[in-house]
This record gives sequence, structure tokens and C-alpha cells, in this order.
Amino acid sequence: MMKLEEFLRLNAPEELGTVAMVVAKGSLAVSEAIPTKAGLLASVNPSGERQKAIDVFSNDEFAEALLGTGMVEEVASEEMQEPLEGKGDVHVAMDPLDGSSNVETNNPLGSIFGFYSKRLPASGRSLLGAMYVTYGSMLTITLSFGKGVHRFVAVRDEAGPSSFELSGLNLRLPEKPEVYGFGGSRKEWTPPVREFVDTLEGRGLRTRYCGTFVGDYNQVLSRGGIFAYPQFVNRPQGKLRVLYETAPMAFINEQAGGYASDGRRNVLDVEPRTLSEPSPAYIGSAEVVRDLERMVSAEGQN
Ligand code: AHG
Ligand code: MN
Ligand code: MN
Repeated sequence: MMKLEEFLRLNAPEELGTVAMVVAKGSLAVSEAIPTKAGLLASVNPSGERQKAIDVFSNDEFAEALLGTGMVEEVASEEMQEPLEGKGDVHVAMDPLDGSSNVETNNPLGSIFGFYSKRLPASGRSLLGAMYVTYGSMLTITLSFGKGVHRFVAVRDEAGPSSFELSGLNLRLPEKPEVYGFGGSRKEWTPPVREFVDTLEGRGLRTRYCGTFVGDYNQVLSRGGIFAYPQFVNRPQGKLRVLYETAPMAFINEQAGGYASDGRRNVLDVEPRTLSEPSPAYIGSAEVVRDLERMVSAEGQN
């Protein structure tokens, strides 16, 4: 099987390959740290959310490795007020640990990275590539540099450290949408979102929701359908952050033949004015998400 290093050497621009490789190595250290760093800290992140030891550990692990490449001009993180400055050309935005509220229940967790060509914040149109780590029953890396979506799985060599082996090439969302997962609850959703969810059952889609964006999206990529963290009646701006979460995932999803919307337009066209700006997020099979967009925008809900 092809190893990640070899794949990156043959298929990624040199700087992005180096950056992707240090993220992959960092994910092994984060995965090992999860059991002992689940405690809640007193500190909060720029979105005002309490931090967990694993949020800070993963942030520091990835930031140090990324700056150490000498190819990264800045690292912006969901867990830091300001970006760290480095030298190089790649602008990295990361959610170092996605779904940290799920550590105790051992639900899948994730890490999300956007590799931008411009000073941050910037729209998803300036993404050169994106990758996400899924800490689940397997540790996998899913990535794209604009030429398809590819997946690698961590395999523990005898006695030696784990390495990443190619487990999926040119992944595409399946034709038939199968699953849906919407964050929040019916009473928090706006009427068009509630109506839209009702239509999904009518189309034979089944619920699949684990509470982590990466874990919930990862199954949509395999089974087709839609994940959403929608606008709420009392939270029209949504929860997921454009720069760190929805734009990098939208980049990958689009490369797999899908579409992602904030309810009005392609997530990749959203110009975040701040590093932590959130937006409603609807991502997955193009026909399903475009139907959602028609219903939500028609109601003038935005
Ligand atoms: P993070 O842990 O990086 O803050 O992300 C958590 C996000 C996302 O992973 C998930 O879809 C959503 O929060 C779940 O939100 P609720 O806990 O409010 O359902
Ligand atoms: Mn997150
Ligand atoms: Mn996070």
C-alpha cells in the first residue's frame, strides 16, 4: 500500500506536502494524549467556550510542528486569540480538536486544517488545500489539494511507530443520499429548517448524528446525505466557524462532488470578517443541500 509520504511527494506541492505530513505526525501524538487530557480548564477560547486540556495540548502540538517547518507564515487557531507568526508562504487555520465535548463519551473526535494562500481571515476561495483527522475506531486523515479527496489510515507497524497508508483514492459522495444529521433541536430550528428535515424522512434518509462535525461529516462523505449545524431562531449566525471548520470541510466536500451552503450561498464564497466568525453550515450531497438552500432562503429567514 502507498504510504502518505510517498503520495504527498508525488501529488502535493512541496510546501503543502511537508505541512500535511507534520499534521499527520501530530495527530498520532494527539490521539495518544486524549485519554489523559480530557479535563476542563478555567480558560475560554475566542468563541467564549471553556477549553479542555486536549484543546490546548492539540493546539500547541500542531502549532509548534507547523511553525517548525519554516513553510508556514501564520497559524490561526480556534483556540488562540491571535495567530502565531512564522516564516513561509502557507497560512494555516485550524480547529485542533473538534468535538472536545465528546471526549468523555468516547464519540469520534476530529482536527480540521485549512491551508490558505492569503493573510487570514480569508474566504474559502483562497484555500490551496484542506485536511481533517478523524479519531474514531480508526485514526484516518482525509485530504485534498484540489485534485480529488484521498484518505489514509494509521497502521501500527510491528514495534515501530504508526505510519499512514492510502485507504481511499478520489473519494466521491455516493449518488443516493442515505443519512442526515442536524445539530440542535426542533424547537431551536427555524420553520423552513424543520420543514426541510421532515422532507428528508420522506426521501428515505435516516438519522446519523454523533455530535462532532468531523465525525458527522465523515459518514456523509461515505453514505451521502447532509450534515447541518443550522441557524437557530435565537442564533441566526450559527455555531461553526467559517475559517477553521466550515470552509476547509466545504473545500473537501466540493472536491468529492458535494455542495456546502450557509443557507444562502456557497460556504466557500463567505468572506469572514473575523477569525472566529461563525455561519450556519449545511454540507453534503449537492442536490440535498441545494434543496435546503432553496427552502431556507425562500423564507427570507436570513
Ligand atoms: P469544537 O469542539 O471544536 O468547539 O466543535 C464542536 C462543534 C462541532 O464539532 C459539532 O458539530 C458541534 O459543536 C456540536 O455542538 P453542540 O454540542 O452544541 O451540539
Ligand atoms: Mn470544532
Ligand atoms: Mn475545537
